[in-house]
Amino acid sequence: MPELSVVIVAADGEQRAVLQVLVDGTSVARAVHTAGTFPVAGTDPVVRRIQSANPDVILVDIPVDNAVTALRTIELLHQELPDSALFAIGGMSQPHVIVNAMRSGAREYIERPTTTTDLLEAFVRLTAAQRRIHREGARGKVFTVVNAKGGSGATTIAVNLALALQSAHGNVALVDIAPLGHASLHMNLKPLFSVTDAIRNLHRLDSSLLESFMTRHGGGLQLLAGTSIPLAVEPSTAEFARLFDMLVSHFRYVVVDASSRMDGTTRLVCNLSEMVLLVAHADVASLWSAARVQQYLGETGGRERVRLVLNRFRKIPGFSESDAEAAAGVKLLWKVPNQYFAVATAIDRGIPLMHQNHTEIARSFIGLAALLTENDDEVKRTAWSLFKTV
Ligand SMILES: Nc1ncnc2c1ncn2[C@@H]1O[C@H](COP(=O)(O)OP(=O)(O)OP(=O)(O)O)[C@@H](O)[C@H]1O
Ligand SMILES: [Mg+2]
Repeated sequence: MPELSVVIVAADGEQRAVLQVLVDGTSVARAVHTAGTFPVAGTDPVVRRIQSANPDVILVDIPVDNAVTALRTIELLHQELPDSALFAIGGMSQPHVIVNAMRSGAREYIERPTTTTDLLEAFVRLTAAQRRIHREGARGKVFTVVNAKGGSGATTIAVNLALALQSAHGNVALVDIAPLGHASLHMNLKPLFSVTDAIRNLHRLDSSLLESFMTRHGGGLQLLAGTSIPLAVEPSTAEFARLFDMLVSHFRYVVVDASSRMDGTTRLVCNLSEMVLLVAHADVASLWSAARVQQYLGETGGRERVRLVLNRFRKIPGFSESDAEAAAGVKLLWKVPNQYFAVATAIDRGIPLMHQNHTEIARSFIGLAALLTENDDEVKRTAWSLFKTV
């Protein structure tokens, strides 16, 4: 890893000195310049001095009593030095400061008091992201999980499928686009950011900013959390297309929990998917709904990508799998057993089934993940990009 040059902007002299020691302590970066005032105009000589240091990274310390000025400095430096990565350092008690720092152009928000490890991790993330940008080609596959009918189990299946893919292959993202995101609850995560933040920052979204909006689960699965407020203004489908373009260039597999969201966005994401898992129960109302949903999703093409997943499955005398396929008009892909106690307890405790090994239902998700990826080593991945320049 080449040594990164770092400029430190901190009004407090002691904090400036501490940060300098911490940066040099990482051994992968070196403080090349420090500034004790927050420039707020491009004409400020401090900006010129920072520019002439040509830093890879600028650390801006956000003081508790003067966050507004520090945020303006971040915005200004983002404009004036577009090739330098901005890391904000500040407290965690005011979420609006964190959000505003990211919106103003910070790639990372690092907690104060900071440690050498925090900085080292952020520097490694930055160089890893830059490497990924340079690595052309490989694009991930999207699997979208959508309900035939509310409460059929889309979130349970999306979460556990993503975990199964993560443990088998690594580099998996779970993206929650449900009308109200429940995936974080299933995994007992408390995300600071959501899909909404990624969409709002699309104009400057790169791999490392995307990663900073995601919440990491124990085994490495990255969650782009869903909204916790029903949205008044829906983002356009074009914005989602750009977000997914970024996701597939970053992750090997992207699992989407659309749950019961039934709009242009779900249709678009289904169109971008390798396979759409339509979750239904084996009863008349659920299968009738599955037929309607597959018709709706298929209106813009891609009907052949939709597959039926029967959740809470148990054998019912006189009812065959081909009856289910005929009623839904969709080919059956998988059956997930009915285990109410295990599933409900897993959700309530926030410990997904996949992390409670050896249950029949966990084995079912491992099998589903294996089926979806069975050809991946031999078959060249379908590459798509909405923004190919050729
Ligand atoms: N395989 C299963 N066996 C038994 N119960 C299940 C199974 N899968 C899901 N459930 C139960 O169904 C309920 C709904 O599950 P989940 O939240 O995954 O559904 P959803 O389709 O995402 O709901 P929503 O429409 O609200 O998004 C849960 O309370 C869970 O206990
Ligand atoms: Mg759900």
